[in-house]
Amino acid sequence: MPSDFPGAERLTIGFAHAAYRLGDCFAARKTGIRFFEVRTFDDLKARAGEADVLVLSGLWRNELIALAGRLRFVQSVSAGVDQYDKAAFGAHGMRLASAQGANERAVSEHAIALILAMARMIPGARDNQARRLWRPMISDPAVREDEMGGKTLLIVGLGRIGQRLAHLAKAFDMRVIGTRRDPSAGAGAADAVHATADLPQLLPEADIVALTCPLTTETENIVNARSLALMKKGAVLVNVARGRCVDEDALVAALESGALAGAALDCTRIEPLPADSKLWSFANVLITPHTAGETRRYEVNVIDLLQDNLGRLWRGEAGLRNQIV
Ligand code: GLV
Repeated sequence: MPSDFPGAERLTIGFAHAAYRLGDCFAARKTGIRFFEVRTFDDLKARAGEADVLVLSGLWRNELIALAGRLRFVQSVSAGVDQYDKAAFGAHGMRLASAQGANERAVSEHAIALILAMARMIPGARDNQARRLWRPMISDPAVREDEMGGKTLLIVGLGRIGQRLAHLAKAFDMRVIGTRRDPSAGAGAADAVHATADLPQLLPEADIVALTCPLTTETENIVNARSLALMKKGAVLVNVARGRCVDEDALVAALESGALAGAALDCTRIEPLPADSKLWSFANVLITPHTAGETRRYEVNVIDLLQDNLGRLWRGEAGLRNQIV
């Protein structure tokens, strides 16, 4: 089928990301395709009308649809696509592809780093270093550093990132159980896979609960007062998914009561995390600023996806790589 997608000579691509150097990476490929690059939402609003293609993630707002009259395709820079109104994309004949896979290694490695940091008490060591304090050994075994072998890791969202995390955790001899929307899609490296609805039965078994799921109506607030109450006393929560997967008031209450031993959070409901959030003040909370996906290869991975999808659009192929709409 011939494609009515604008040819390379007529195409304008808009790169819109606060930090990533997508424009430099694209320019280095010498395609001759026109592009612009912006770093703020205001600049994006001003130039959205020029773009046939946008490459962006956190700077997307659904109000851009009204401003971007030529827009035909959005290549998301993020693996998660919760910020896009898919029905509106369909209604406006716009296509959308995620960056799933671009950060699979980075996010799973970040999750295992957070798990190890919590078990080996690395954040406290760093705090002590800042105070030039050589902490004495701990006599109470209950609050000492721990080891991972034989511990149960529950992965909520056994997709590509979750399966890679399962693979890494098996190297530490952990028992790994997981949930996914469609358990028939397989357990990957995990020992067992269950439906998301089975979470209440699984939570009491877990020493560590790691969220690697997309944000959907099913996973919004999946960690709430009820699920926290089902977790083992002394369990640890790790969130490399989305802040809205967790009811933060319930999390703060579980940390204050000591029901949870700690939490490692790469994402929060409001980002940046407001200065007055209680989460900043817990010694047993480790926060990273939504950096789990960051990698030195990110631009290359995204531009590879973009070029693959532009090729498919020009050839009039029905399917995109990582197609969402
Ligand atoms: C990061 O959060 C992503 O969705 O890629």
